[in-house]
Amino acid sequence: MQVVPKTRELQEFAEKERRAGRRIALVPTMGALHEGHLALVHEARRRADRVVVSLFVNPTQFGPGEDYAAYPRPLELDLEACRSAGVDVVFAPGVEELYPDGAQTFVEVERVSQPLCGATRPGHFRGVTTVVTKLLVAARPHAAVFGLKDFQQVAVVRRLVRDLGFDVEIVGVPTVRESDGLALSSRNVFLDERTRPQAPSLRRALLAAEAAVERGELRGETLLRLVADEIRAGAPLGSIDYAELRDPESLEPAPGVLGDPTLLALAVRFPVGRGEQRVRLIDNTVLRPPSAAAETPPEESP
Ligand code: PAF
Repeated sequence: MQVVPKTRELQEFAEKERRAGRRIALVPTMGALHEGHLALVHEARRRADRVVVSLFVNPTQFGPGEDYAAYPRPLELDLEACRSAGVDVVFAPGVEELYPDGAQTFVEVERVSQPLCGATRPGHFRGVTTVVTKLLVAARPHAAVFGLKDFQQVAVVRRLVRDLGFDVEIVGVPTVRESDGLALSSRNVFLDERTRPQAPSLRRALLAAEAAVERGELRGETLLRLVADEIRAGAPLGSIDYAELRDPESLEPAPGVLGDPTLLALAVRFPVGRGEQRVRLIDNTVLRPPSAAAETPPEESP
């Protein structure tokens, strides 16, 4: 496995592989790798001859007061995990490599970036789309693989590649969960003995909404009330950032589950330590009205 810190080196690798007719898949990450990331690597392996994983904690996607400094950076463990998973190249640039002195170029996807996490984390997706653009330019992949836990991120990146004409397939991989339903996330390490047992409530709330839809309850207001009740009951320390129904592609608001698959997206904040700081967990499901559910497997979009 090669570890490459420079964009130019990665471009040379990509050019050579492409000339030899080999397919490249990129797995962009911020490190602190867990089973969820390894599922992305596994999917990348299935789709390509060469797998590139990027490890880069991207400063521009963190807002002031967010956890950029505290974000875990276990580089040696991440490299070991990549080696064991059969990764070919790890791209691990320094901040100055991707944001050279005086950098002032950003890539912004407008409407899809605005609701949900975009509303509570202004500037977050501008940072994501800027760095993903740089990673695509560096790795020149045929496919780039992302986790559907960050559903909005996948929708935003899809819009980005369509709008800028990148010749890359964006692949979304279903969320990997702990046995109690908690979605794997590098931020789960911030949960403590009080909040960790409450965190699976996000998943329980999503399952309650899925069950209600199966029973024929399709009204948005009722479904969102059910979700909020479930969170309040199971996670008294949590505060809901948002619980919303949206079109899975455009992310425009949806009044209910009206004949088409509908995204139910959820973000809940939990206090950490003595409560001055918060960890924010997200999760989602795509609700399908009973007739559509029979036709399409869950979690395959956007
Ligand atoms: O999902 C992430 O880990 C990050 O947002 C990404 C896509 C690697 C960009 O920094």
